[in-house]
Amino acid sequence: MTSAEIRKRFLDFFEKRGHSILPSASLVPENDPSVLFNTAGMQPLVPYLLGEKHPNGSRLADVQKCVRTNDIDEVGDNTHLTFFEMMGNWSLGDYWKKESIQWSYDLLTSLDEGFGLNPQRLYVTCFEGDSNAPKDEESAQIWEEIFKKNGVTGERIYFRPKEKNWWSAGDNGPCGPDTEMFYDLTGDLDKGMTLEEYLKADESQKVVEIWNNVFMEYLSKDGKVVEKLQNRNVDTGSGFERVVAVIQGKNNVFDTDLFTPITEHLRENPSTSIIKSERIIADHVRTAIFLIADGVVPSNTDRGYILRRLIRRAVRHADLMKLPPNFLPTIIPIVEEIYKDIYPYLKDGRPKITSEITQEEERFRKTLSDGMKQFQKLSTENISGEEAFTLFSTYGFPIELIQELAKEKNIKVDVTGFNNAFRLHQKASRVGAEEKFKGGLAGTGEMEIKYHTATHLLHQALRDVLGKSVTQKGSNITSERLRFDFAFERKMTDDEKMNVQNIVNEKIQAKLPVQKVTMKKEDAEKTGALHFFGDKYGEEVNVYFIGEKIEEAYSKEYCGGPHTENTGSLGKFIITKEEAVSAGVRRIKAILE
Ligand code: ALA
Repeated sequence: MTSAEIRKRFLDFFEKRGHSILPSASLVPENDPSVLFNTAGMQPLVPYLLGEKHPNGSRLADVQKCVRTNDIDEVGDNTHLTFFEMMGNWSLGDYWKKESIQWSYDLLTSLDEGFGLNPQRLYVTCFEGDSNAPKDEESAQIWEEIFKKNGVTGERIYFRPKEKNWWSAGDNGPCGPDTEMFYDLTGDLDKGMTLEEYLKADESQKVVEIWNNVFMEYLSKDGKVVEKLQNRNVDTGSGFERVVAVIQGKNNVFDTDLFTPITEHLRENPSTSIIKSERIIADHVRTAIFLIADGVVPSNTDRGYILRRLIRRAVRHADLMKLPPNFLPTIIPIVEEIYKDIYPYLKDGRPKITSEITQEEERFRKTLSDGMKQFQKLSTENISGEEAFTLFSTYGFPIELIQELAKEKNIKVDVTGFNNAFRLHQKASRVGAEEKFKGGLAGTGEMEIKYHTATHLLHQALRDVLGKSVTQKGSNITSERLRFDFAFERKMTDDEKMNVQNIVNEKIQAKLPVQKVTMKKEDAEKTGALHFFGDKYGEEVNVYFIGEKIEEAYSKEYCGGPHTENTGSLGKFIITKEEAVSAGVRRIKAILE
C-alpha cells in the first residue's frame, strides 16, 4: 500500500463513521503563544476539547502536520523525525472508549477497509492508576473482549504508570489516561509476551507504538488534575510515517515511499554514503521546507532559530557526505512531488523556500569560514571552555559542530567549562533583559540624556535604511558614547552607515520636539510605537515621540525616559564603529560632538 492509499484509507474510514475531515492546520499555532509549533494533532483543537462548540460537529478526523525538535539528536535512527504527520480522530463529548478502541482495532486489522495488519502482532498498554485518576480497567476490558472475539490469544494487555500512559500537552490543559497500541516488527513475538518481555521488546524497538487513544476527561493545572472537563473527549494520534513503515514492511521510516525519492536522489550524486547523514539531511530539509512554507524564516530566536539550526545541520551533513555546495535546494522539487496531491501549496512556495535555504547556507558558510580560521588557531590537543564559548558566541558556531570538529581532529573540548561559560552568558543576558525592562538609564546626566534621545533617532534611521526587520537587541549609554545592538544579518556597507548618520543629523538639525504621552496599551499599540515584541507591559505605557504630533512623529517608542526636550541640543552625530556581536546581531557605537 502506498502512503497516499494509507492516508486515504484512514480518512475514508472515519468519514464513513460520521467524522468531518479537517485540513491540516499550519505548523505555526495561530492562537497559542505557549508553543512554537504544533506538536500533536490535538493542539489546534484545544479550545474544542475544553468545551467550545466546533463548527464541523462532534466527530472530527485529520492528518495534521507536526514539528517536534526535542529529540533532534535521535534523528538518524529508525523512527525519529523532526517533521511528521499525525493521523487523528476526535470525539468532542460524543463516542467514548468502546467505539474508539473498536475502530482503532478495525482500521489496523481490516483487510477491506483498513491496513490489514496481523492482529497476532498487536500489543496494548493501559493506565495503571494513581492519585489523579483510577486504573483504566474499562479500556483493558474492551481490549480483552476484542482479542477474544478475534482469536487473538496470549498475554498482550499491560498496565503502565503515568509516565507511559497518561497524555497531556504540557502541564496545563485537557488530559487523561490513554491506551497505546504497539506492533511487533519482527513477527517472532506472536504468542504474546509477559510484561518483562514486552518491556525488553519495547526498549530494543522490536515493537513500535503505532497509535495512541487518549481519553480526555480531565483538566490539569501545574501537572495536577484539578477537575473533570465539561465533556468526555477522545483524542487519538497515530504517527503517519511510522504506520506507513509498518504497513510497507520496513524497519525504518526512511525506507518508505515518503523518503525513498529523497534518499535515492542523495545517492545519485557523487558522495560518500553515510546512512546517518543521509537521514539527517532528508529529515531536516523536509522540515525546513514545511516550516518556510508556513511562514517561518531563519533567525536567531524562537521558530527562526530552530529553522536555522535545521538548515545548518543539514549543510554540515551534506559536507560530510561530500555533496556539492548549494545542493540542498535540489531536494525541494522532490518533496513537492511527494506531497503534490495533499500539500500543493509547497509548489507555490518554491521561490521563497529556495531563496531562504540558499541564503541560510551562504550565511552559514561565511560563519564557518570565519570560525574555522579561529578554530584552527586553537590548541591541537585541548579546547578550553572559554575558547569553545567564543566560537559559539562570536562566530556563531553551533555547539554540536564544535564537538564534531573536535572529535574528527581528536581534540578534547572542556564541555563543563563551556557549559559554565554558557550559563554565565545566559545569566548575563537575563540580567541585561531585566535592566532593559526597567526602562532606566545607567546615569541621568546631561550627556546620557542626549545620548538616549540620539539612540531613538538611530533606531528609527536604521529601520529606514536597512528595513523593518531591524530590532533592538540591547543598548548601553555612558557620558562618552552610545552603543546600540540590533538584529541584522550582515555587515553594513559604508553607504548605509553614511545614510543612517545623515538621517540622524537631519533630524537633529530639524530641531524636533521630544514629547511624552501616557496611553492605554491598546492605544499605544495602534500608534505603531516600537517596543520589545512579546514583552509584558502594564495597562498604561509611556510613549516618547520625536516630532510635532504623534501621528506624524519620526520616532515613537515605549520608553521610561528621560529625554532632551528638543533634538536641536544634541550636536553632531558620528558613527564610530559598526561590528558583529554574535551571529545575526550587529553593534553600532556613536558619539555626539
Ligand atoms: N495527543 C495524543 C498524542 O499526541 C494522541 O499522542
